[in-house]
Amino acid sequence: MLIDSHAHLDLKDFQKDLDEVLERAIQEGLSHIITIGIDLESSRKALKLAHQYEFIFSSIGFHPHDADKMDADQLNQLSRMASDPKVVGWGEIGLDFFKNFSPREKQVDAFNQQLDLAVEHDLPVIIHNRDAHQETYETLRKRKDKGARGVIHCFSGDYDLAMRFMDMGYYISIPGTVTYSKASNIQDVAARIPLERMLVETDAPFLAPVPKRGKRNEPAFVIHTAKKIAELRGMDFEEVARQTSENTRKLFGI
Ligand code: NI
Repeated sequence: MLIDSHAHLDLKDFQKDLDEVLERAIQEGLSHIITIGIDLESSRKALKLAHQYEFIFSSIGFHPHDADKMDADQLNQLSRMASDPKVVGWGEIGLDFFKNFSPREKQVDAFNQQLDLAVEHDLPVIIHNRDAHQETYETLRKRKDKGARGVIHCFSGDYDLAMRFMDMGYYISIPGTVTYSKASNIQDVAARIPLERMLVETDAPFLAPVPKRGKRNEPAFVIHTAKKIAELRGMDFEEVARQTSENTRKLFGI
């Protein structure tokens, strides 16, 4: 049993062969996939997939890259979708000060507005954070007492930062980059954080793990990530798979 806690199945990369992709995921033992919205249209498509396939759940939200496209009307539409039983999280939301595809002020504004909505709808948040560690941490800390909870997706910080997020109750999601030979930071995090706070993800179609590196990523490949984590921790793959699945079900109420 294994869950891919973060994939983008609505993207055109999967248009031609989604059924085969899902079949391979099931064959590898995946029980669920959470497909992630990045704007209104993508969130709609993600939820549609979740309605089509019993083992798929969806999130809704505006990615920081798309923050400048977000307006009040679109937020209202997302809010209406939030009560759908197959919507299990709000995201991915956050800050990306590496690419800065949207102006920083817009990113901050979209992040804050969506955090408030997630709390209002009692949904866990899926956090994207790139080169904005301190700003992301402070923003979440301000909402700690309001009941904000969730996962730091595709974690890219060090062990100390992971511990600070976990101290606020957040989960840390380990992506396929943990299999890359030079990824010593994320390998250290994956080896040392409590397994009870860890999720695994593909972020498919991006960031395929070794031995699929350079190819289109897909949910089935999360098995390589979980195997690498087991190796780093010196434990059985089955234990990593079981515990990360349990964590994912608990966080998202699956
Ligand atoms: Ni993503």
